[in-house]
Amino acid sequence: MILFESIRWKNFLSTGDQWTELDLQSHNSTLIVGENGAGKSTLLDALCFVLFNKPFRKITKSQLVNSINEKGTKVEVRFSIGKEEYRVFRGIKPNAFEVYKNNKLVDQDAAAKDTQKYLEQSVLKLNFKSFTQVVILGSSTFVPFMQLSAPHRREVIEDLLDINIFSSMNSLLKDRIRDAQTQSRDCDHMLTMHSQRVSAQEKLLGQLREVNQNRQEEKQKKYDDNLATMQDVYKQKSNLANEISNIVSSMGDYESAAKTLSTLRQGQSDKKSELKLISKELKFYQEHDECPTCQQFIDKDFKFAMVGNKTGKGKALAEEIVQFNSDIKEATSIVSAISEQSMKLKELNSDLSAIERDYVRLEFENLRIQDEIIKLQQSTPNIDQEEEHLFSLQKDYNITKDDCAEVSRTLDEYQVVSNLLKDSGIKSQIIKKYVPIFNSLINKYLQSMDFFVNFTLDEEFNEVIKSRFRDEFSYASFSEGEKQKIDLALLFTWREVARMKNSVATNLLILDEVFDSSLDTSGTNELLQILRSLGNNTNVFVISHKGEILVDKFLRTVKFEKINDFSKMSDDS
Ligand SMILES: Nc1ncnc2c1ncn2[C@@H]1O[C@H](COP(=O)(O)OP(=O)(O)OP(=O)(O)O)[C@@H](O)[C@H]1O
Ligand SMILES: [Mg+2]
Repeated sequence: MILFESIRWKNFLSTGDQWTELDLQSHNSTLIVGENGAGKSTLLDALCFVLFNKPFRKITKSQLVNSINEKGTKVEVRFSIGKEEYRVFRGIKPNAFEVYKNNKLVDQDAAAKDTQKYLEQSVLKLNFKSFTQVVILGSSTFVPFMQLSAPHRREVIEDLLDINIFSSMNSLLKDRIRDAQTQSRDCDHMLTMHSQRVSAQEKLLGQLREVNQNRQEEKQKKYDDNLATMQDVYKQKSNLANEISNIVSSMGDYESAAKTLSTLRQGQSDKKSELKLISKELKFYQEHDECPTCQQFIDKDFKFAMVGNKTGKGKALAEEIVQFNSDIKEATSIVSAISEQSMKLKELNSDLSAIERDYVRLEFENLRIQDEIIKLQQSTPNIDQEEEHLFSLQKDYNITKDDCAEVSRTLDEYQVVSNLLKDSGIKSQIIKKYVPIFNSLINKYLQSMDFFVNFTLDEEFNEVIKSRFRDEFSYASFSEGEKQKIDLALLFTWREVARMKNSVATNLLILDEVFDSSLDTSGTNELLQILRSLGNNTNVFVISHKGEILVDKFLRTVKFEKINDFSKMSDDS
């Protein structure tokens, strides 16, 4: 409960450079009287300005400065909440705003806006709108509850029920939801990126494996081709070997054949020499009858015998020479056949060694290929490296996925909490419970002012008013006096609820000109009765022109009057 103790102001509206100070706690009821413009309603502006930095009437802050003195505007209010004593001071020209708690300046370094927030949210626990709804009624600029928009009605009720904490939580939560949504979007982006990286790596790995497989297959094919070639080569080799062995086994001895030929040639040559000699001797015997050397006569018979002998020998020799010719021809053909075969053998042997070299080369090549295939199968450094990389990418992806799941879980939780904190959530459950209480209190106060209508606020704070004779009635249709009764009933209801909730309960109640305009005599009496029933905890201030009628109904009367253009206050107590 906020217990207002005193307020004072100077250079404020029509008040001059001397403090006007009003004790707010000393009397349960105070009547404030004075002529038009005397400075009575100034109290409301002083109170609203000092607490909320906002005049009650619709003027700017600078219009609060006294127009004659033009500076030094100061307002100070004292109040207590429980054991804590507060003093709030505000000034214009120079600007000042100070909050003292137990005589210690609060939060000197913080910006004025933060101190204002602290004052409204942590100390008073109500804002300008709620304050005016539970403390003030009836001045010309006052907006009655019934003329507030639905969201503003809700704001006032939330203050009264002390459930605006849910709204604060909701606005904090909105920031968190926004952050989480940003995170979630980032997450989606990251996840796509990681998953793209993983699939690109998988593709690369697939290609590497395919290349490896192709190379293995190529090598295997070369190996198989080599094997087939080797089989061919082997066949050729054994054919050649066979041919060679056939030639070797059928081939005669060159040495002896050559020797035979040479012997034959020598024999023929000998015979030819012999024939030459015999021919010479024959010629000698045919041409000579005496020896040219010894000149001895050659006997005719001898000569004849010798010619016959030599001719016979010559003939035999000639035949022998002819015989030699065919033998030599035969021996020559044998020798040349043997040498031809030997040439062929040489060729074949060279072919065989070429084939054998080929075979060995293929054998070596296949050994190498086998080795390479094993290497391709077993040791794949590129693939191993890329597999490792893929593994780390998958790990990254999984971590991101877990993180994203966490973010989306958090977001889900926030959504659940947000649903609870929404106007239709917990608050509406609480409000739902209070709405019947509001309605029964409002109707109770209406009845005590002899106004018999059935007034109901629904959960959206829209009113349904049923009169006895007509079905439904809107607030605007009622007369000014009736409207004032409804406004009063609501004011008392909010005060009652505030007292029950101990939320924005305060001792102060200021009614500005409520008695003057619309209320008739019986209405006035009923209102006075209600005011008396408010008890010792309330300090009522009634601003009125009807001083004469009301004066004996109040414990104190305060009078405002304007002297030399400045408002002055005098207190009868
Ligand atoms: N800046 C200012 N400097 C000096 N006087 C001002 C300034 N602003 C307003 N005033 C005057 O101050 C007075 C304000 O008085 P206030 O509204 O408190 O009168 P009131 O006693 O409530 O009168 P009523 O009975 O007509 O409501 C008016 O006379 C107004 O003209
Ligand atoms: Mg006034």
